[in-house]
Amino acid sequence: MNIPKSYDQLDQWTTIMFLYNSALKAINTKIEIMNNEFVHIYHYNPIEHIKSRLKSPDSIVKKLKRHGREVSIANMIEYLSDIAGIRIICSFTSDIYLIADMISRQADITVLNIKDYIKNPKPNGYKSYHMVVTIPIYLSEGPVETKVEIQIRTIAMDFWASLEHKIYYKFEGNAPRSLEVELKVCAEIVDMLDGKMFSLNESIMKISGDQPEPENRADEKRPDIWTGLLTGETQEKSLREAAKEQDADGI
Ligand code: GTP
Ligand code: MG
Repeated sequence: MNIPKSYDQLDQWTTIMFLYNSALKAINTKIEIMNNEFVHIYHYNPIEHIKSRLKSPDSIVKKLKRHGREVSIANMIEYLSDIAGIRIICSFTSDIYLIADMISRQADITVLNIKDYIKNPKPNGYKSYHMVVTIPIYLSEGPVETKVEIQIRTIAMDFWASLEHKIYYKFEGNAPRSLEVELKVCAEIVDMLDGKMFSLNESIMKISGDQPEPENRADEKRPDIWTGLLTGETQEKSLREAAKEQDADGI
């Protein structure tokens, strides 16, 4: 993050939090537009809801200390990726990859790293898809690339993570073994539930002859539309054509 030189030391904290807050707003708007566009074309809503938050000064200081870093604005910018955080909750695991793909295709978003705890769950059973991205925030002196952590998970994964988080904090990381075992069992139930809900939804769609599988929509239908968006071609035209194609497929 290149804070403009005209901002003196005293202004830095406010400026930085302003940037992170603006990044949250910018990404939120982007995601909302993607979701609305998806609803517009496919009559399908991949996102259940979105939560966003700015890390509190207290948590920033604690985390820097935990990582053995001196508490400074420079270190917070360099070493913390989750000062601005967004959590996207969806219904099905397939939606997670669809959304992640939609986000990484955005021309002004740079993906810094990805942690796929769905393909590789944590030993405690935690599942979620994490991306750290940057988005340019346009100040009068020019763009400032600002980091945002995006977590994408299903409702069931989110339910599990909230409970695990509560237990973790309650016992300060030293929860009784029995609780850890119970949580692991719950994580397996979450897996099963996500799988069952997905196949149930598939069956419903097949019976109603409604829509193709989300993966197929992502791989086969969307690229043209998104290429159009990325290159700034006439969006309306490609959207209309895609909608017609969908109709032709009986969707
Ligand atoms: P942190 O230092 O915890 O931020 O981890 P990290 O910087 O290595 O990143 P990671 O992608 O592993 O985790 C980012 C965030 O995901 C955390 O700050 C939590 O909000 C959430 N998270 C990661 N692991 C767990 C977990 O085991 N349980 C819960 N409930 N949340 C987790
Ligand atoms: Mg983190």
